[in-house]
Amino acid sequence: MKKEFNILAISGSLRNQSSNTLLLHAMIKLAPPTLKFGVYDELNDLPHFNPDLDVEEGPASVQNLRAQLKESDGVLICTPEYGNGVPGVLKNALDWVVSSGEWLNKPTVAIAASPSPMGGDKAHASLLLTLNMINAKVLNEASLTIPYITLKMNKQGVIIDSETQHALENSLLRLADACNQMNE
Ligand code: FNR
Repeated sequence: MKKEFNILAISGSLRNQSSNTLLLHAMIKLAPPTLKFGVYDELNDLPHFNPDLDVEEGPASVQNLRAQLKESDGVLICTPEYGNGVPGVLKNALDWVVSSGEWLNKPTVAIAASPSPMGGDKAHASLLLTLNMINAKVLNEASLTIPYITLKMNKQGVIIDSETQHALENSLLRLADACNQMNE
């Protein structure tokens, strides 16, 4: 039985000072030691999804995304909301794996964090719809929206709100549990 699990961590923001990328790294520090993280930071390298490009020897960046997903036991996403929806770069990555199957049954935690009081709830709901469509194993109770993220995490990426920290730790424990169960 496996004792360690590879988690692919994806931020839905390309911004240098992204609160979601900071949050992703904060979560990695809070995670139980059985979870080993690789950060996928190549959203910007993917071409716009076009089924005509989705051929045997398709774009290298797409093959790379699919390979990293295939090698992972689970996925953690932290994303902002733009225009009441999922950021285009993240949706584009999801479109590339809708029919390729690497995400099938993979335990997945999706977090949306926003400075707004709504916490990116529309992006979160839309992201879950897509993840369910591609048959990821979405951990609903571990998947959170975080309103007022700038009040809950400082600029150094330290979670300064104990309730939020507890919720994030709980999400990570659920992710570890789900990875364990999938490998029993
Ligand atoms: C936003 N932002 C935003 N926030 C939100 O909760 N719902 C929304 O629909 C939008 N829409 C939106 C559009 C545009 C064009 C911008 C520039 C911003 C605010 C957004 O949550 C904020 O900029 C976050 O800081 C972005 O996340 P990162 O990059 O900090 O992770």
